[in-house]
Amino acid sequence: MFKGKTILTGVKPTGTPHLGNYLGAIKPAIELGKQAISQGGKHYMFIADYHAINAEKNPTVLNQKMKEIACIYLASGLNPNESIFYRQSDIPEIPEITTILYAYTPKGFMNKAHAYKAMVDKNRAVNKPDDDGINMGLYTYPTLMAADILAYDTDVVPVGKDQVQHVEIARDIAGAINAHYGKELLRLPEYYVEENVAVVPGVDGRKMSKSYGNVIPLFEDDKAIKKAIFSIKTDSRPMEEPKNPDEILVYEIYKSIAKPEQLKEMGEGLRQGKLGYGHIKNMLLDAVIAEVSQAREKYNYYMSHFAEVEEMLEDGAAKARPIAKATLKRLKDAVFGR
Ligand code: TRP
Repeated sequence: MFKGKTILTGVKPTGTPHLGNYLGAIKPAIELGKQAISQGGKHYMFIADYHAINAEKNPTVLNQKMKEIACIYLASGLNPNESIFYRQSDIPEIPEITTILYAYTPKGFMNKAHAYKAMVDKNRAVNKPDDDGINMGLYTYPTLMAADILAYDTDVVPVGKDQVQHVEIARDIAGAINAHYGKELLRLPEYYVEENVAVVPGVDGRKMSKSYGNVIPLFEDDKAIKKAIFSIKTDSRPMEEPKNPDEILVYEIYKSIAKPEQLKEMGEGLRQGKLGYGHIKNMLLDAVIAEVSQAREKYNYYMSHFAEVEEMLEDGAAKARPIAKATLKRLKDAVFGR
Protein backbone atom coordinates (compact mmCIF):
# COMPACT_ATOMS: atom_id res chain seq x y z
CA MET A 1 0.00 0.00 0.00
CA PHE A 2 2.91 2.35 0.73
CA LYS A 3 5.16 1.08 -2.02
CA GLY A 4 7.82 3.71 -2.65
CA LYS A 5 5.83 6.32 -0.73
CA THR A 6 7.09 8.94 1.64
CA ILE A 7 5.10 8.95 4.82
CA LEU A 8 5.38 11.52 7.58
CA THR A 9 4.19 11.46 11.16
CA GLY A 10 4.32 14.37 13.56
CA VAL A 11 3.76 14.21 17.26
CA LYS A 12 3.24 17.09 19.65
CA PRO A 13 5.28 16.79 22.83
CA THR A 14 2.42 17.45 25.22
CA GLY A 15 1.06 15.24 27.94
CA THR A 16 2.53 11.97 29.11
CA PRO A 17 1.42 9.12 26.85
CA HIS A 18 -0.64 6.34 28.48
CA LEU A 19 -1.40 2.78 27.45
CA GLY A 20 -4.23 3.95 25.15
CA ASN A 21 -1.87 6.26 23.25
CA TYR A 22 0.70 3.50 23.03
CA LEU A 23 -1.64 0.86 21.62
CA GLY A 24 -3.81 3.23 19.59
CA ALA A 25 -1.27 5.66 18.13
CA ILE A 26 2.40 5.13 18.95
CA LYS A 27 2.76 1.48 17.98
CA PRO A 28 0.60 1.78 14.83
CA ALA A 29 2.59 4.83 13.66
CA ILE A 30 5.89 3.00 14.07
CA GLU A 31 4.41 -0.02 12.30
CA LEU A 32 3.26 2.06 9.31
CA GLY A 33 6.72 3.59 9.05
CA LYS A 34 8.30 0.14 8.98
CA GLN A 35 5.82 -0.96 6.33
CA ALA A 36 6.68 1.97 4.09
CA ILE A 37 10.41 1.44 4.54
CA SER A 38 10.15 -2.28 3.78
CA GLN A 39 8.41 -1.36 0.52
CA GLY A 40 11.13 1.01 -0.59
CA GLY A 41 9.49 4.13 0.83
CA LYS A 42 10.63 6.68 3.37
CA HIS A 43 9.43 7.47 6.86
CA TYR A 44 9.80 10.82 8.55
CA MET A 45 8.93 11.00 12.22
CA PHE A 46 9.28 14.28 14.02
CA ILE A 47 8.61 15.99 17.32
CA ALA A 48 6.43 19.03 16.70
CA ASP A 49 7.96 21.30 19.31
CA TYR A 50 7.09 24.57 17.56
CA HIS A 51 3.46 23.48 17.78
CA ALA A 52 3.86 22.81 21.49
CA ILE A 53 4.89 26.36 22.42
CA ASN A 54 1.44 27.67 21.52
CA ALA A 55 0.07 26.01 24.62
CA GLU A 56 3.06 25.42 26.89
CA LYS A 57 5.25 28.30 27.97
CA ASN A 58 7.34 26.64 30.66
CA PRO A 59 10.74 25.68 29.15
CA THR A 60 11.45 23.07 31.81
CA VAL A 61 8.16 21.34 31.08
CA LEU A 62 8.66 21.63 27.31
CA ASN A 63 12.12 20.11 27.51
CA GLN A 64 10.92 17.29 29.73
CA LYS A 65 8.03 16.46 27.36
CA MET A 66 10.30 16.54 24.34
CA LYS A 67 12.64 14.06 26.04
CA GLU A 68 9.78 11.81 27.08
CA ILE A 69 8.31 11.68 23.58
CA ALA A 70 11.68 11.01 21.95
CA CYS A 71 12.45 8.19 24.39
CA ILE A 72 8.96 6.70 24.14
CA TYR A 73 9.17 6.35 20.37
CA LEU A 74 12.66 4.89 20.50
CA ALA A 75 11.69 2.51 23.31
CA SER A 76 8.60 1.45 21.39
CA GLY A 77 10.63 0.29 18.40
CA LEU A 78 11.28 3.29 16.18
CA ASN A 79 14.58 2.64 14.44
CA PRO A 80 16.40 5.94 13.87
CA ASN A 81 18.68 4.31 11.31
CA GLU A 82 15.67 3.57 9.12
CA SER A 83 13.15 6.26 9.97
CA ILE A 84 14.26 9.88 9.76
CA PHE A 85 13.68 10.99 13.33
CA TYR A 86 14.12 14.66 14.19
CA ARG A 87 12.90 17.70 16.03
CA GLN A 88 10.91 20.30 14.11
CA SER A 89 12.83 23.19 15.69
CA ASP A 90 16.12 21.81 14.32
CA ILE A 91 14.93 22.55 10.78
CA PRO A 92 14.96 26.35 10.26
CA GLU A 93 13.64 25.90 6.72
CA ILE A 94 10.23 24.97 8.20
CA PRO A 95 9.37 28.46 9.49
CA GLU A 96 10.75 29.93 6.24
CA ILE A 97 8.49 27.71 4.17
CA THR A 98 5.60 28.59 6.50
CA THR A 99 6.08 32.28 5.73
CA ILE A 100 5.76 31.65 2.00
CA LEU A 101 2.71 29.44 2.54
CA TYR A 102 1.00 32.22 4.50
CA ALA A 103 0.69 34.21 1.29
CA TYR A 104 -1.38 31.36 -0.13
CA THR A 105 -3.40 30.56 2.97
CA PRO A 106 -6.87 32.12 2.89
CA LYS A 107 -7.64 33.52 6.32
CA GLY A 108 -10.98 31.74 6.11
CA PHE A 109 -9.18 28.39 6.26
CA MET A 110 -7.79 29.32 9.64
CA ASN A 111 -11.17 30.55 10.90
CA LYS A 112 -12.59 27.15 10.08
CA ALA A 113 -9.73 25.00 11.35
CA HIS A 114 -11.13 23.10 14.26
CA ALA A 115 -8.21 23.41 16.69
CA TYR A 116 -8.96 27.14 16.64
CA LYS A 117 -12.73 26.72 16.49
CA ALA A 118 -12.69 24.43 19.50
CA MET A 119 -10.99 27.16 21.53
CA VAL A 120 -13.54 29.74 20.36
CA ASP A 121 -16.37 27.40 21.34
CA LYS A 122 -14.81 26.94 24.76
CA ASN A 123 -14.64 30.70 25.23
CA ARG A 124 -18.25 31.17 24.14
CA ALA A 125 -19.42 28.50 26.54
CA VAL A 126 -18.14 30.57 29.44
CA ASN A 127 -19.13 33.96 27.97
CA LYS A 128 -15.60 35.07 27.21
CA PRO A 129 -14.63 37.00 24.06
CA ASP A 130 -14.08 34.64 21.10
CA ASP A 131 -10.33 35.13 20.92
CA ASP A 132 -9.60 35.13 24.63
CA GLY A 133 -6.26 33.40 25.30
CA ILE A 134 -5.79 32.49 21.62
CA ASN A 135 -2.39 33.35 20.17
CA MET A 136 -1.37 33.59 16.52
CA GLY A 137 0.57 30.34 16.81
CA LEU A 138 -2.61 28.44 17.51
CA TYR A 139 -4.63 30.41 14.96
CA THR A 140 -2.18 29.77 12.11
CA TYR A 141 -1.03 26.33 13.12
CA PRO A 142 -2.49 24.52 10.12
CA THR A 143 -0.09 26.53 7.91
CA LEU A 144 2.91 25.47 9.99
CA MET A 145 1.61 21.92 9.82
CA ALA A 146 1.33 22.30 6.03
CA ALA A 147 5.01 23.30 5.93
CA ASP A 148 5.88 20.25 8.08
CA ILE A 149 4.24 18.06 5.48
CA LEU A 150 5.08 19.80 2.21
CA ALA A 151 8.78 20.34 3.03
CA TYR A 152 9.55 16.65 2.58
CA ASP A 153 7.54 15.82 -0.56
CA THR A 154 5.25 13.75 1.62
CA ASP A 155 2.82 11.39 -0.08
CA VAL A 156 0.90 10.13 2.91
CA VAL A 157 0.22 11.51 6.38
CA PRO A 158 -1.16 8.94 8.81
CA VAL A 159 -3.44 10.81 11.21
CA GLY A 160 -6.27 10.45 13.65
CA LYS A 161 -9.65 11.68 12.42
CA ASP A 162 -9.15 15.00 14.21
CA GLN A 163 -6.21 15.85 11.95
CA VAL A 164 -7.79 15.08 8.57
CA GLN A 165 -8.89 18.66 8.04
CA HIS A 166 -5.36 19.93 8.61
CA VAL A 167 -3.93 17.61 5.94
CA GLU A 168 -6.64 18.79 3.56
CA ILE A 169 -5.61 22.38 4.23
CA ALA A 170 -1.98 21.45 3.41
CA ARG A 171 -3.18 19.88 0.19
CA ASP A 172 -5.26 22.93 -0.74
CA ILE A 173 -2.39 25.32 -0.10
CA ALA A 174 -0.02 23.17 -2.19
CA GLY A 175 -2.61 22.95 -4.97
CA ALA A 176 -3.06 26.73 -5.00
CA ILE A 177 0.70 27.31 -5.26
CA ASN A 178 1.16 24.72 -8.00
CA ALA A 179 -1.75 26.20 -9.96
CA HIS A 180 -0.42 29.73 -9.62
CA TYR A 181 3.06 28.90 -10.90
CA GLY A 182 1.88 26.32 -13.38
CA LYS A 183 4.15 23.55 -12.13
CA GLU A 184 4.39 20.95 -9.43
CA LEU A 185 6.45 22.83 -6.88
CA LEU A 186 4.89 20.93 -4.01
CA ARG A 187 3.72 17.36 -3.82
CA LEU A 188 0.06 16.99 -2.86
CA PRO A 189 -0.21 14.93 0.32
CA GLU A 190 -2.97 12.54 1.23
CA TYR A 191 -4.16 11.66 4.68
CA TYR A 192 -4.48 8.10 5.85
CA VAL A 193 -6.77 7.17 8.73
CA GLU A 194 -6.18 3.67 9.97
CA GLU A 195 -9.55 2.12 10.72
CA ASN A 196 -8.44 -0.90 12.71
CA VAL A 197 -6.45 0.68 15.49
CA ALA A 198 -7.47 0.00 19.03
CA VAL A 199 -9.57 2.55 20.88
CA VAL A 200 -8.75 1.52 24.40
CA PRO A 201 -11.35 2.23 27.09
CA GLY A 202 -10.15 3.76 30.34
CA VAL A 203 -10.74 2.40 33.84
CA ASP A 204 -14.19 4.07 33.97
CA GLY A 205 -15.32 2.78 30.56
CA ARG A 206 -15.01 6.06 28.67
CA LYS A 207 -12.26 6.43 26.07
CA MET A 208 -8.89 6.37 27.83
CA SER A 209 -7.87 9.98 28.13
CA LYS A 210 -5.77 12.03 30.49
CA SER A 211 -8.50 14.65 30.67
CA TYR A 212 -10.90 12.04 32.10
CA GLY A 213 -8.35 10.88 34.66
CA ASN A 214 -9.04 7.26 33.69
CA VAL A 215 -5.71 6.14 32.27
CA ILE A 216 -3.53 3.10 32.70
CA PRO A 217 0.01 4.50 32.81
CA LEU A 218 2.58 3.33 30.30
CA PHE A 219 6.15 3.37 31.56
CA GLU A 220 5.56 3.73 35.28
CA ASP A 221 6.41 0.95 37.74
CA ASP A 222 4.36 -2.22 38.19
CA LYS A 223 2.75 -0.82 41.30
CA ALA A 224 1.29 2.18 39.49
CA ILE A 225 0.01 -0.01 36.65
CA LYS A 226 -1.52 -2.42 39.16
CA LYS A 227 -3.22 0.39 41.03
CA ALA A 228 -4.88 1.62 37.82
CA ILE A 229 -5.93 -1.85 36.72
CA PHE A 230 -7.44 -2.70 40.08
CA SER A 231 -9.48 0.49 39.90
CA ILE A 232 -11.27 -0.67 36.73
CA LYS A 233 -15.01 -0.56 37.25
CA THR A 234 -16.71 -3.88 38.02
CA ASP A 235 -20.00 -4.86 39.66
CA SER A 236 -20.87 -6.97 42.67
CA ARG A 237 -22.01 -10.15 40.93
CA PRO A 238 -20.41 -13.27 42.39
CA MET A 239 -17.81 -15.22 40.46
CA GLU A 240 -20.10 -18.21 39.89
CA GLU A 241 -22.65 -16.18 38.00
CA PRO A 242 -22.10 -16.70 34.24
CA LYS A 243 -21.31 -13.39 32.56
CA ASN A 244 -21.30 -12.00 29.06
CA PRO A 245 -17.66 -10.97 28.59
CA ASP A 246 -18.60 -8.20 26.17
CA GLU A 247 -20.29 -6.38 29.03
CA ILE A 248 -17.20 -6.48 31.18
CA LEU A 249 -14.80 -3.58 31.03
CA VAL A 250 -11.68 -5.53 32.04
CA TYR A 251 -12.35 -7.86 29.10
CA GLU A 252 -12.85 -4.89 26.75
CA ILE A 253 -9.46 -3.48 27.70
CA TYR A 254 -7.89 -6.96 27.49
CA LYS A 255 -9.07 -7.15 23.87
CA SER A 256 -6.61 -4.48 22.82
CA ILE A 257 -3.62 -6.28 24.27
CA ALA A 258 -4.23 -10.04 24.68
CA LYS A 259 -3.33 -12.77 22.23
CA PRO A 260 -6.37 -14.58 20.73
CA GLU A 261 -5.94 -17.64 22.95
CA GLN A 262 -5.60 -15.49 26.06
CA LEU A 263 -8.74 -13.60 25.15
CA LYS A 264 -10.57 -16.85 24.60
CA GLU A 265 -9.50 -18.12 28.00
CA MET A 266 -10.81 -15.03 29.76
CA GLY A 267 -14.04 -15.05 27.75
CA GLU A 268 -14.78 -18.67 28.55
CA GLY A 269 -13.87 -18.28 32.20
CA LEU A 270 -16.37 -15.44 32.52
CA ARG A 271 -19.10 -17.22 30.63
CA GLN A 272 -18.71 -20.31 32.78
CA GLY A 273 -18.45 -18.44 36.08
CA LYS A 274 -14.95 -19.74 36.68
CA LEU A 275 -13.08 -16.44 36.78
CA GLY A 276 -13.75 -13.62 39.23
CA TYR A 277 -12.93 -9.96 38.83
CA GLY A 278 -9.71 -10.31 40.82
CA HIS A 279 -8.56 -13.09 38.49
CA ILE A 280 -9.25 -11.22 35.31
CA LYS A 281 -7.62 -8.06 36.60
CA ASN A 282 -4.49 -10.04 37.34
CA MET A 283 -4.61 -11.53 33.85
CA LEU A 284 -4.85 -8.03 32.38
CA LEU A 285 -2.03 -6.82 34.61
CA ASP A 286 0.23 -9.67 33.46
CA ALA A 287 -0.55 -8.90 29.82
CA VAL A 288 0.14 -5.18 30.22
CA ILE A 289 3.41 -5.82 32.01
CA ALA A 290 4.45 -8.39 29.42
CA GLU A 291 3.68 -5.87 26.69
CA VAL A 292 5.48 -2.90 28.18
CA SER A 293 8.27 -4.20 30.41
CA GLN A 294 10.95 -4.47 27.74
CA ALA A 295 10.09 -1.09 26.25
CA ARG A 296 9.97 0.41 29.73
CA GLU A 297 13.54 -0.73 30.39
CA LYS A 298 14.67 0.88 27.16
CA TYR A 299 12.71 4.00 28.00
CA ASN A 300 14.38 4.32 31.38
CA TYR A 301 17.76 3.75 29.77
CA TYR A 302 17.25 6.46 27.16
CA MET A 303 15.85 8.94 29.68
CA SER A 304 18.98 8.58 31.79
CA HIS A 305 21.31 8.63 28.76
CA PHE A 306 19.65 11.41 26.82
CA ALA A 307 22.93 12.52 25.22
CA GLU A 308 22.65 9.41 23.02
CA VAL A 309 19.13 10.38 21.99
CA GLU A 310 20.20 13.95 21.34
CA GLU A 311 22.77 12.61 18.92
CA MET A 312 20.14 10.52 17.13
CA LEU A 313 17.88 13.57 16.80
CA GLU A 314 20.72 15.64 15.41
CA ASP A 315 21.59 12.90 12.92
CA GLY A 316 17.92 12.81 11.91
CA ALA A 317 17.85 16.58 11.41
CA ALA A 318 20.98 16.35 9.26
CA LYS A 319 19.15 13.87 7.01
CA ALA A 320 15.89 15.82 6.90
CA ARG A 321 17.30 19.30 6.35
CA PRO A 322 18.61 18.94 2.80
CA ILE A 323 15.16 17.84 1.64
CA ALA A 324 13.48 20.83 3.31
CA LYS A 325 16.21 23.08 1.91
CA ALA A 326 15.54 21.86 -1.62
CA THR A 327 11.81 22.53 -1.21
CA LEU A 328 12.49 26.01 0.12
CA LYS A 329 14.80 26.76 -2.80
CA ARG A 330 12.19 25.60 -5.32
CA LEU A 331 9.64 27.86 -3.66
CA LYS A 332 11.90 30.90 -3.41
CA ASP A 333 13.04 30.57 -7.01
CA ALA A 334 9.45 30.48 -8.19
CA VAL A 335 8.05 33.09 -5.84
CA PHE A 336 10.81 35.65 -6.37
CA GLY A 337 11.29 34.91 -10.05
CA ARG A 338 14.93 33.94 -9.63
N1 TRP B 1 -1.08 18.67 14.68
C1 TRP B 1 -0.66 17.33 15.02
C2 TRP B 1 -1.32 16.93 16.34
O1 TRP B 1 -1.79 17.78 17.07
C3 TRP B 1 0.82 17.22 15.14
C4 TRP B 1 1.49 17.60 13.86
C5 TRP B 1 2.16 18.76 13.61
C6 TRP B 1 1.53 16.84 12.67
N2 TRP B 1 2.63 18.75 12.33
C7 TRP B 1 2.26 17.60 11.73
C8 TRP B 1 1.02 15.58 12.32
C9 TRP B 1 2.46 17.11 10.44
C10 TRP B 1 1.23 15.12 11.04
C11 TRP B 1 1.94 15.88 10.10
O2 TRP B 1 -1.36 15.77 16.65
